[in-house]
Amino acid sequence: MNNHMPKKPIAIDYDFTNMTAGRTGSADERARELPRLQAEADSARRALVERFRAGQVGFMTMPERTGAIRAAREMAKAVSAKFRTLIVIGIGGSDLGARALLGALKPVGKAMDVRFIGANTDPEEIATLLREIDWRRTALNVISKSGDTIEPMSVFLLLRDRLIKAVGAKRHRLHVIATTDDKSGTMRQIADREGYRTLPVPRDIGGRFSALTPVGLFPAACAGIDVGKLISGAHDVLEDFLSAAPEKNGSLTFAALQVAAYRRGQPLTVFMPYAESLRQFAFWFRQLWAESLGKKTSRRGQTVHAGFTPVAALGATDQHSQIQLYNEGPADKTLTFIEVKKFRDDAAVPKPYPDIEGVAYMAGHKFSELIHAERKATAIALTKNGVPNGTISIPSVSGESVGGLMMFFMLATAVAAELLDVDAYDQPGVEAGKRAMYALLGRGGYLLD
Ligand code: PA5
Repeated sequence: MNNHMPKKPIAIDYDFTNMTAGRTGSADERARELPRLQAEADSARRALVERFRAGQVGFMTMPERTGAIRAAREMAKAVSAKFRTLIVIGIGGSDLGARALLGALKPVGKAMDVRFIGANTDPEEIATLLREIDWRRTALNVISKSGDTIEPMSVFLLLRDRLIKAVGAKRHRLHVIATTDDKSGTMRQIADREGYRTLPVPRDIGGRFSALTPVGLFPAACAGIDVGKLISGAHDVLEDFLSAAPEKNGSLTFAALQVAAYRRGQPLTVFMPYAESLRQFAFWFRQLWAESLGKKTSRRGQTVHAGFTPVAALGATDQHSQIQLYNEGPADKTLTFIEVKKFRDDAAVPKPYPDIEGVAYMAGHKFSELIHAERKATAIALTKNGVPNGTISIPSVSGESVGGLMMFFMLATAVAAELLDVDAYDQPGVEAGKRAMYALLGRGGYLLD
């Protein structure tokens, strides 16, 4: 079987030929199963689209929310004109999207220097950052939809305190931009009291689905990234998802094949971009896939303990760290590679030792050729060992392809949630941990059970 999704405007191509590899049963049977899986996923897609049309799936409306996109861009313009450094303070969905965007796309030597903190309460990490800040030229972007999250809020309180000491209580307000709910919550209360400038986290879009809202777009724009391109890529993928037939629908097929693997006892999803610039993107995917689909109860209230365990890996680096396990260890996983067809830079390996075969054979090959060969070789070895693997290719790392990939995986997550019958948009397990933490730290009204 040789299956390739045809190319689309932003050409996200999903090659799932090797997803039928397996150690038990026959690959032919699994291949024959595909149309049935795609049809099942297509009913899930139709249910999702119905909810979207009824205004119940916020993230799918993001490409149309021009007001929020403009607000992020304009704020970035104003802040960049006055400050050199932006410190982004957030955690989880209020952090990983912006990190993924900057990791992939940050233009070199342009715009503001964007730093991240608040995803941990590690005092050494905080102290290191504090030692480096020039407060007069630094703005803070505190991102918390609720304002009740201990890690970013505690760090914000400390940085705010230092900022006030450096520039004064009156002036400090000009340095703070709060990205939060536009009406309620603790951060909104603080922003209103202080008179901070704010950007909205749309109420109907949860943290891990918010990378293409001001949560991710504002830091990205401050870093000089063209956020219009991100949105245009996301828009293309969404349009495709809404209209493409099941056999040509990439995010739908990805979800269908992952859920099929899950049902046959392969709940580990290894996500392995072959590009250093997508390292952070793998962590963004990890949260999306884990927190959206890992649920104790189904939407109908049955106890299901559903979910995948995503693993963020990096090619080619992890070939020398993880691949032994993936090839020969338990048959409990699938691998998804992200392939970048054309790299933004390249170089060839020099040939200083033509007589030493151990290095001579590499001479003249471009590094892009090496990394492509490494991914292909890994896929061949895995397939031989019966480990299902697929490759999602993008033409290059660009605003359009990264925005498109984000939409691709958010849609795949939403379809997988339909297939597993779980709510992709809540996180009761995270909230339980937050409540226990409040109790441990003596917040009024919270007690340990
Ligand atoms: O995806 C999610 O909903 C979570 O990861 C949240 O983004 C995270 O807990 C941070 O929440 P908040 O933005 O309210 O501080």
